[in-house]
Amino acid sequence: MFYLMHVIHVLTVILWIGGLAFVTMIVLPMAIKTPDALQKALLFQRVEHRFANMARVYNLITGASGFVMMFQMGWHNLLFTRQGIPLTFMTLIWVFWFVMLFGLEPFVIKKMLAKMMTPGKNVDIDAVFIRMNRLHWFMVAISLAASVAGVLTAHG
Ligand code: HEM
Repeated sequence: MFYLMHVIHVLTVILWIGGLAFVTMIVLPMAIKTPDALQKALLFQRVEHRFANMARVYNLITGASGFVMMFQMGWHNLLFTRQGIPLTFMTLIWVFWFVMLFGLEPFVIKKMLAKMMTPGKNVDIDAVFIRMNRLHWFMVAISLAASVAGVLTAHG
């Protein structure tokens, strides 16, 4: 059971963080370089909408497999202790992602993208994309940090 959960955990993390890196390093720069504002917003909205749905599934699978492993080994006792710093860090990053994907994305980001495409709304699209770019790089960085914490939990 533990090994199965471990394999599911790692494969899901690969798909999830790999997809996030692809959006951040390939799709966002492509959208930013698109001169037409409507095209720019449309390209990004379509990719983001599709990826956000997948990311929600990845988040749930990563969390479920992680929590099963943690409770199976009794490692929940390590949470918020010195020895359990990597496990605690990984869990907190996961909670942050959960809030972003299930709380903020459907309400804040989706609405912001829809507003950008509504004629007559005065939105500084370039400024929004600069903010979005920063947010995506931040998410890549903390996800890689969570992965390092995972490796330390498993092999440290
Ligand atoms: C942002 C979310 C997460 C990421 C990116 C992530 C990533 C990883 C990675 C890369 C590993 C290392 C696997 C290896 O080296 O073999 C790992 C292991 C592990 N993760 Fe996560 N993880 C996340 C969330 C969670 C959550 C929420 C839990 C449970 C509370 C969890 C529990 C574990 C456990 C117990 C291991 C160690 C498995 C072992 O000792 O073999 N993870 N994780």
